[in-house]
Amino acid sequence: MHAPMKKLFIKTYGCQMNVYDSARMADLLAPLGYAPADAPDDADMVILNTCHIREKAAEKVYSELGKLKRLKERKAETGAPMLIAVAGCVAQAEGEEIVARQSAVDIVVGPQSYHRLPELIAQVTRNAGHALETDFPAEDKFDSLPEEMGVQGPAAFLTVQEGCDKFCTFCVVPYTRGSEYSRSVAQIEAEARRLAEKGVREITLLGQNVNAYRGQGLDGEEWSLAKLLYRLAEIDGLDRLRYTTSHPRDMRDDLIQAHAELDKLMPYLHLPVQAGSDRVLAAMNRQHTAADYLRLAERIRAANPDLALSSDFIVGFPGETDKDFEATLVLVREVKYAQAFSFKYSPRPGTSASTAKQLPEDVKDARLQELQALLSKQQAEFNASCEGRMMDVLFEKPGRKAGQAVGRSPFLQPVHAENAEHLIGEIRKVRIAEVQPNSLKGVFERQMVDAL
Ligand code: SAH
Ligand code: SF4
Ligand code: F3S
Repeated sequence: MHAPMKKLFIKTYGCQMNVYDSARMADLLAPLGYAPADAPDDADMVILNTCHIREKAAEKVYSELGKLKRLKERKAETGAPMLIAVAGCVAQAEGEEIVARQSAVDIVVGPQSYHRLPELIAQVTRNAGHALETDFPAEDKFDSLPEEMGVQGPAAFLTVQEGCDKFCTFCVVPYTRGSEYSRSVAQIEAEARRLAEKGVREITLLGQNVNAYRGQGLDGEEWSLAKLLYRLAEIDGLDRLRYTTSHPRDMRDDLIQAHAELDKLMPYLHLPVQAGSDRVLAAMNRQHTAADYLRLAERIRAANPDLALSSDFIVGFPGETDKDFEATLVLVREVKYAQAFSFKYSPRPGTSASTAKQLPEDVKDARLQELQALLSKQQAEFNASCEGRMMDVLFEKPGRKAGQAVGRSPFLQPVHAENAEHLIGEIRKVRIAEVQPNSLKGVFERQMVDAL
């Protein structure tokens, strides 16, 4: 007998690892009869999969919970109960406090224990109380997740590594995700094969420190990320591999070499530097200098001269002077990024930088604006340099106009093409005919010939 139909709505905040976890929570609850809902209004259960990285991200959760509480009350009046669960990094960081601040919350579950959701739901529905699970359990969460995975489109995420032991002084991740852990090669390969069988053509391997990956290999030895990538590249039907996020300190020679040798490894690397001043880098505990980073970028580009680099930046870290900030701009000008994310420093409870004297908000704002202007200019220049180039595009979904499809270039740029809807799920060569503000326009060569 099938379980009665229920509806689940998951709202995801934060990084790609949360996107992966949300999909796994949906997989986990599918056998309990939960099908995806389009909106919280239709849902019997709502999960907020939260992010704690900056204050704004964490605060959003409480305003959303306020709305959900009102929805829950309205639904209760019509005799339709609704469960509210808070998962992810805010759940891990704040635990019991969440229920204290918002009593409508039924379940709080951390990123390492969401495989226990079915038990927690049973507990709550039976006892009509709250359930809290934020342990870092001894058992392997991944062993407890179902093999059956829902797949959405031809590009998928696959978590291979979790947690972080680096303790950058601004960052909550080592506290919310725990210490570094790598899944075994066998487990990852099996998951990758299942995805490929379902039509997935591109996999992005995920980890908070993905290039620190050192999982048990097929020979029982410890394998590096590079070795894992070579192995996954042998899977038929899987055409593209990516990985994120990497730390500059863990960029080993074999991984750099993989960028020279492995055709399936896409020429795009997200390699966060955070800042360009050695003084600030040291205060952040990044354990590398600006010169180390520049040398590394050079070595990666020597391995593959046609590789796009991306980064994260924090401006206004405590103690950052105008001169320090200028060093960040100098580094950016030197590296030339294809894409980047930049943030104002946000003091996070429990991290060591949070108690230091903060810079004024207007200084942070001005620096962020200046850096973002430079990064946008570099991104526009990189995109402009692609005009006229032939590129492989993996078409992922329909575009805004009828018949249009949107996909990604090897450099992760969004590319749209007309008359391409039937190509969703496939990789096709297009010529980049036009660079538009938010995407590139690709045309099929045949169309160009036709137009002559
Ligand atoms: N593991 C990755 C970063 C994960 S967090 C790495 O080591 O680079 C994603 C990004 O959020 C970071 O790269 C950083 O730029 C930003 N970030 C983290 N903590 C922050 C904070 N307290 N304030 C502002 N930005 C922060
Ligand atoms: Fe956070 Fe640093 Fe770990 Fe990245 S390496 S997750 S920034 S502590
Ligand atoms: Fe946010 Fe947690 Fe990811 S704090 S960035 S969801 S690891």
